[in-house]
Amino acid sequence: MRAGLLGAMAFSPEFLDELRSRLTLSEVVGRRVALKRKGREHSGLCPFHNEKTPSFTLNDQKGFFHCFGCGAHGDVVGFVMRSEGLSFPEAVERLAREAGVALPVASPAEREREQQAASLHEVVEKATRWFERQLWSTAGVEALEYLRRRGLSDDTIRSFRLGYAPDEREALRKALTADNCPEALLVEAGLLIKPEDGRSPYDRFRGRVMFPIEDRRGRIIAFGGRIMGAGEPKYLNSPETPLFHKGTTLFAYARARPAVHENAPLIVAEGYMDVIALHQAGFKGAVAPLGTALTEEQIGLLWRVTEEPFLCFDGDNAGARAATRAAERALPLLKPGKSLRFVSLPPGEDPDSLIKAQGADAFTRQLEKALPLAEIVWRLEMAGKAADTPERRANIEAALLRRASLIGDAIVQNHYKREWRDRLWKAFRPPRGPQPGRFGRGGRTGGRFEAAPVIAPAIVQGSPAPPPDIGERDLLTMLLRRPDLIVAVAEELAHLEVRDPRHQALVEALLRWAGELEAQGGVAPMEAAQTSRIRIENPGLANHLRILGLEAFALHLLGAVPVSYALRDADQQTLVEEWRRCAAAQNTVLGRDAVLAEAARLWNESPTDENWKRLQALIEELQAAHTAGERP
Ligand code: UTP
Ligand code: MN
Repeated sequence: MRAGLLGAMAFSPEFLDELRSRLTLSEVVGRRVALKRKGREHSGLCPFHNEKTPSFTLNDQKGFFHCFGCGAHGDVVGFVMRSEGLSFPEAVERLAREAGVALPVASPAEREREQQAASLHEVVEKATRWFERQLWSTAGVEALEYLRRRGLSDDTIRSFRLGYAPDEREALRKALTADNCPEALLVEAGLLIKPEDGRSPYDRFRGRVMFPIEDRRGRIIAFGGRIMGAGEPKYLNSPETPLFHKGTTLFAYARARPAVHENAPLIVAEGYMDVIALHQAGFKGAVAPLGTALTEEQIGLLWRVTEEPFLCFDGDNAGARAATRAAERALPLLKPGKSLRFVSLPPGEDPDSLIKAQGADAFTRQLEKALPLAEIVWRLEMAGKAADTPERRANIEAALLRRASLIGDAIVQNHYKREWRDRLWKAFRPPRGPQPGRFGRGGRTGGRFEAAPVIAPAIVQGSPAPPPDIGERDLLTMLLRRPDLIVAVAEELAHLEVRDPRHQALVEALLRWAGELEAQGGVAPMEAAQTSRIRIENPGLANHLRILGLEAFALHLLGAVPVSYALRDADQQTLVEEWRRCAAAQNTVLGRDAVLAEAARLWNESPTDENWKRLQALIEELQAAHTAGERP
């Protein structure tokens, strides 16, 4: 095939792939060209012709640069060749040295290995064709029927080149040796098993539907074979061979890559059938590892195509464990912008079964509910842990910080630590005003010690959004109208219970703003708004909200909530106190609602006597409070 093309100067595609994966095009180009980043593209003045306005662009994901002015075009190697006037091997050598990739020495043994790889590819390709022929012949009637019954169209079956290995000991061996494939190569390719005792080799795959596995360039390198009925193992895979390394291969990667470049979501499913069903349903960016947890190399492959791939897991305990493992593996590797998104499917479903039962839209909805990596790690450390004493809270904080410290990239690590601080601040808010603790959330209740609270369940489906709350809305609007109050009430704001996610975002934005002001040692400028015009009076705050994409929502609130007379006349201290009083009242109501909802959920889940009593007690307490007129 391509062996010997450039004699001793030929670099293997694997080597070149490896080299490219270690280099970021924009970094290499950025040394010569001042680049501006715009989304996925970088642009700048073309180094290959004279120009005043930038028409040179590059895309790190695609790994190519292009100049619309002079038509210069190429990859990272091409760029170095052109800009430094080097030959191909010289440019490769230069880049390899920079990237710390050892240059291949083309020894005779190596050239022989290359030739052998070429012939291995041929053997595997021949086997694929043979398996395909079996599937579409009378021998494969049952197998074809099996695949159709599983919902695959004939087009899909042909496109993925599915096949059938007849239930015979030597069918493939005979067919392929007759077709000039040396037996030794068939063994090397993992297609035959050579018994230790010297008897003749026999077919590895017998009586199985065959799923060809392709390498990154789309050449078939191995197979997974599924048994059609019951039996063990369900899937039999090729062993590791010179062509096939399980841990660095992703099923359907070569197909997904171009689709993802066209903006298809990159989806990581668990199995062959999932990937094929996803492709058939239009999710052309689906891939899967080969029956194992994602390896570092596989995560690296994913990030070469997209910044935040979606990982799908079954919504049961095993799925949650698999998600955890993936999260743990990814943490040390995180880089600015690069992360994972987690899709938790309904328990017992995989993408294949979900699409079959509910259609492609149902899967899209699952993608929309994907959780970021930070959320998964947070839940992992919070799940089932008591947080009712300082020591226990410290324990959680320590565990979270330990996780963050595993992140290799300093900037990402820093942001994780900040995230944990923000979240912990909110989760462990000190009790204020009438204590929600009274209503049975752990701790002492009437002399009886209750079970410690579970703060966060393991991966759960998103709960339905509660209706927007007037109380929290008005509290936030007050701060937008009087930014000079924000720093003064920052602590209470951090402890404010809000239900509407937009309000939540606003709280976080205001807190961050207050934090920045405090860090600068400055107090919020006194800029009391005396007008009823709809605008944010503090330009700094307005800008801050604009950057966070919250300005429109803030203006909407200002327009929706009438200015109260108190706001016009009151001095800052009075307003601060009034705001604190309202916030405490708000928390009492919401805290109680949450406790009640939790108790109701518990009773629903396990209708024990104890859970019933707890729910009853809460309802009685609420009614008592109500009649006492405590509710604000
Ligand atoms: P699953 O057991 O989840 O099967 O294995 P599946 O993908 O849903 O397959 P169907 O729908 O029953 O046909 C997920 C993946 O784990 C690997 C395979 O890669 C499979 O696709 N696996 C599973 C094996 O390698 N061997 C096995 O025996 C089972
Ligand atoms: Mn399945």
